[in-house]
Amino acid sequence: MLTMNLKIDSDAFSTGQIESKIWAVEELEKVSAHTNILRISMLGGWYGLFHFILKVRGRQQVEWCRSYDLDAGACSVANTVNNTWSHEWQFRAMPKDANELTFDDNTNCVVNTSTEHFSNNEWFDNIHEGMLCVLQGNDLKIEDHVNCPKDLDDFKKKYQLSVILFEGTKHFNFETNPYTRYMIIGHK
Ligand SMILES: C[S@@+](CC[C@H](N)C(=O)[O-])C[C@H]1O[C@@H](n2cnc3c(N)ncnc32)[C@H](O)[C@@H]1O
Repeated sequence: MLTMNLKIDSDAFSTGQIESKIWAVEELEKVSAHTNILRISMLGGWYGLFHFILKVRGRQQVEWCRSYDLDAGACSVANTVNNTWSHEWQFRAMPKDANELTFDDNTNCVVNTSTEHFSNNEWFDNIHEGMLCVLQGNDLKIEDHVNCPKDLDDFKKKYQLSVILFEGTKHFNFETNPYTRYMIIGHK
């Protein structure tokens, strides 16, 4: 019998995480749907839920999506969650340091909803001018959040886009660990 043991961090499916992904997808659809066919590179893509939500809503055309994460186990979960789109590599998650990406694969949209996990801006510096970026960060102070923005202005300063199509904040007023998430969408 074939068995598969995937270790899942249930926080990925918490209210804050799922609402944040839906927020990102909804705002991306408003600026991009029906105009662009997206070729997405997801950095720190974790379980690939951004892509899953984007696809099941069906409002945005996606040619392909590559998800990069340092955690090989997370990539296995991402490939399982997104296995509906595994044919012809429409979706593929792979273990890789996102700071090493050069985006020479015809990517036209870079998604990083994990910016607070990245201690430097190497990944952002490597994004080509003009590429559409969907970026989120949050101010929750926990151990692996090494780069928390102070506010939306601080977030915009960290990742400077030449054209901002959307900017916003979303506060999650949880009893334990309340936090604010920041998002910008635009062209580098
Ligand atoms: C635990 S998730 C946090 C999720 C995030 N708050 C979100 O909403 O998507 C962060 C992920 O970033 C990944 N990560 C951190 N640094 C990375 C890097 N340099 N390259 C690729 N993935 C990275 C971690 O392995 C982890 O799976």
